[in-house]
Amino acid sequence: MVSIKSKEEIKKMKIAGEVLGQALQFLKKMIQPGINCQKLDEEFLKFITERNCQSNFYGYYDYPAHICISINEQLIHGIPQNRVLRNGDLVSIDTGCIYEGYHADAAITVICGDYVNPLHKKLVEDTQKSLQLAIEQVRAGVRIGTISATVQKFIEENGFQLPTDFAGHGIGTSMHEDPLIPNTGIPNTGMRLQAGMTICIEPMVQISTSKTITASDGWTVSSADNSMAAHFEHTILVTEEGCEILTLLKD
Ligand code: MF3
Ligand code: CO
Repeated sequence: MVSIKSKEEIKKMKIAGEVLGQALQFLKKMIQPGINCQKLDEEFLKFITERNCQSNFYGYYDYPAHICISINEQLIHGIPQNRVLRNGDLVSIDTGCIYEGYHADAAITVICGDYVNPLHKKLVEDTQKSLQLAIEQVRAGVRIGTISATVQKFIEENGFQLPTDFAGHGIGTSMHEDPLIPNTGIPNTGMRLQAGMTICIEPMVQISTSKTITASDGWTVSSADNSMAAHFEHTILVTEEGCEILTLLKD
């Protein structure tokens, strides 16, 4: 069931989103060669806890950490390991938190250090751009297929691949609510967005295959051909005129 948030609920969603945007910015600065992934997880938990938020990832289907760190060919749901990031690693950080029962969820991908492979850079930029283009389509009355098709068209025009095993979603008193927001679709089809809906749009993109494989840890999803992967996500409030991004990165 799709929920339309009241003014009071939106206030809480906004606080959850603001804390998460700040936490992501904080983590982004820490992504440097030599940083340990488990340190990022610890620092994130400290950051949100100090701001009266709780983790929504920890314990979700027994997920054992507070953020996901997916490196290089890993697409999503990487469990932070006792592993040090290296110059040139492609690092996706997926984060979430709860404020007074309301969830936010957001992800970014960054290249660690100063060694930049041009194709990896294009993958990251195009994935972020596809999210931006999709967000620009969001407004009450627009149908979900239009959002999905916007991501798909841009990514395919740029020669990258979109796994279809995972999708964006509604969010609110749970991390995952209706409706589903796929990254592929047909314009002007599907449910119409309504003002007061809060949704997560999250393009997940791979260089040369749309197929994924899940590791034996039951979580880490990687590209089936080990090609590099990127992921961006924002929590968004749908309004009559457009939308508000609730998880903007801020200092
Ligand atoms: N943040 C992810 C999403 O975008 C879900 C994380 S799964 C968890 O839907 F288990 F790590 F929490
Ligand atoms: Co999500």
